[in-house]
Amino acid sequence: MFVSFEGIDGSGKSTQLNLLREWFEARGHSVMVIREPGATLLSESIREILLSTKQSITPTAELLLFSAARTQLVEKVIQPARTTNTVILCDRYVDSTTAYQGYGRGLDLERVQAINAIATRGVMPDLTFFIDVRYEQAQQRMQFAEGGGEPDRMERAGGDFFNRVRDGYLSIAATEPKRFVVIDGYRERDAIHHDLVSEVERRLTTP
Ligand SMILES: Nc1ncnc2c1ncn2[C@@H]1O[C@H](COP(=O)(O)OP(=O)(O)OP(=O)(O)O)[C@@H](O)[C@H]1O
Ligand SMILES: [Mg+2]
Repeated sequence: MFVSFEGIDGSGKSTQLNLLREWFEARGHSVMVIREPGATLLSESIREILLSTKQSITPTAELLLFSAARTQLVEKVIQPARTTNTVILCDRYVDSTTAYQGYGRGLDLERVQAINAIATRGVMPDLTFFIDVRYEQAQQRMQFAEGGGEPDRMERAGGDFFNRVRDGYLSIAATEPKRFVVIDGYRERDAIHHDLVSEVERRLTTP
């Protein structure tokens, strides 16, 4: 099973991914956790470039850099893992590009989809959780986050940007309701985790 986690910055993706990893491991599954961009040397190097505040990056360059990192990840890590029984949990995947570079930066959506198809080689998650919180709620959480530090280049984009990104995610949900599950993320961690587990259990029993 390949599960991805989506949501604006600070929505609680990593928190929920870790809880679900523990849940799978407690049931004897082998689990691979991946973050995007990252998980290969090349992708981690591209991540540094993308999150650095030292330079400006044009929206199209940003699109291509995220996509280059993704395709390396797909070919080197995800495709090999898909031939085994390993559960793959991915912190962000291709929907982030649709939401951030497409809806957020305003790049032409058809062109973004075309690049996404190249970058993923058609490899899509079985299930995607969109942890939905509003920008103000995410901001509030990140303020209290331990070791949060300075906002990275993406996090500096501001409220209007993140509202467009959230609208983008909701549009994806409308077109792909089976794969892309919207979860109300502004609740207690355990309540959210409970919803994720119910959804996973349902998919494990009814393929
Ligand atoms: N349900 C929740 N209720 C309250 N606080 C939460 C909840 N889930 C996560 N948090 C806290 O909110 C902050 C952001 O959570 P987390 O790091 O999981 O988000 P994220 O989506 O992975 O963020 P980023 O995009 O920056 O990686 C953390 O301090 C975390 O402890
Ligand atoms: Mg995170």
